[in-house]
Amino acid sequence: MRLLVTGGAGFIGSNFTRMALKNKPDWEVTVLDKLTYAGRRENLEDLETDPRFTFVLGDICDEKAVSQAMEGCDTVVNFAAETHVDRSIDDASSFVRTDIEGVRVLLEEFRKEKRQLFLQISTDEVYGSVEQGNSLETDQLAPRSPYAASKAGGELLAMSYWTTYGVPVTVTRASNNYGPFQYPEKLIPLFITNAMTGEPLPLYGDGLNRRDWLFVEDNCNALIMVVEKSEPGRIYNIGAGQEYNNREVTSSIPEITGADKSLVRYIEDRPGHDRRYALNVSLIEKEIGWKASTGFGEGLRKTVDWYSRNSVWWQKVKSGEFREYYLSMYHDRLTNSRESK
Ligand code: NAD
Ligand code: DAU
Repeated sequence: MRLLVTGGAGFIGSNFTRMALKNKPDWEVTVLDKLTYAGRRENLEDLETDPRFTFVLGDICDEKAVSQAMEGCDTVVNFAAETHVDRSIDDASSFVRTDIEGVRVLLEEFRKEKRQLFLQISTDEVYGSVEQGNSLETDQLAPRSPYAASKAGGELLAMSYWTTYGVPVTVTRASNNYGPFQYPEKLIPLFITNAMTGEPLPLYGDGLNRRDWLFVEDNCNALIMVVEKSEPGRIYNIGAGQEYNNREVTSSIPEITGADKSLVRYIEDRPGHDRRYALNVSLIEKEIGWKASTGFGEGLRKTVDWYSRNSVWWQKVKSGEFREYYLSMYHDRLTNSRESK
């Protein structure tokens, strides 16, 4: 099997590519990645010498680049996206471009030949804020941030190619991933690396927003199984059933890193901040036979361990574009912050 993995130089894509090449000796992987601020070639460094691995620098919105990269591939796994909610609130344009238009370009190239599977990586954020209960795949979509709305657009477009042209599409909607190689703009890697350098841990609002935390290797395992077993036209939730509020997540970081608890700061909330996401995962358990196996405590310890062994990686990341982003996102809010709520 030959896979095109778009966005493979990012967080989940690089973990997926590594796991696929390790566990599936008969798979070949071509990564197509634009290397935006979030994508890094060094995330795939250890795979460069593997003859089953090819890296192509390119944009999923570029028809020519997509056509060349997809040649000979029977499966496409589309991770490529703009992914950070706060950035989408600042400027939605790159989100609409990559997360919707990019999906259209990929689908158009995909349907030119008979191929096996187009796996569109979507998110639990498409359901919107879920105050009670768990989201089922059949629930109505109600995305509330520009990021979530763009991802909903991308997956709806992908599904429309299944119903309209019979293109074999599957969609997965995962909950919050954490683990090695995550760009430190997201809650867990930001707070781990700030704790390691004695910087504040800036909690939004009252810190009581809830997320379901899924260790990235569990998600990648699920995705490999979906590639192997899914019928076209299916949608699968992927979650760990490990729901914590942000205060709980934050307090465990000083506990593991040994940092001072007084680093926690309450800052002005994210506009339109979704209160809670929660997934019902019985469909993937039943049809694919997958279940998350990493407890949150274990996953968080592994993640802290990875960031402490790879400080060169994140210090380099944090010294580039990130500095400007961090200042504009946090400086004023931290100046007006409080130690407790
Ligand atoms: P990430 O931001 O770490 O990586 C995104 C990758 O896509 C980067 O390598 C970037 O260079 C690449 N990319 C962006 N625009 C591109 C373009 N136009 N052409 C080619 N490459 C481009 O993201 P991630 O956290 O690894 O998320 C991967 C996918 O999983 C996304 O589709 C995201 O919506 C989805 N998802 C993420 C989570 C999570 O918790 N991180 C949860 C559910 C779903
Ligand atoms: O649910 C899946 C989604 O999870 C993915 O689709 C997105 O790509 C991914 O970014 C993530 O979105 P979130 O907005 O949930 O993740 P983030 O790490 O940005 O925030 C997690 C929670 O922590 C959220 O309630 C906001 C809060 N937060 C975040 C940051 C960065 C803070 O309190 N302070 C922060 O500095």
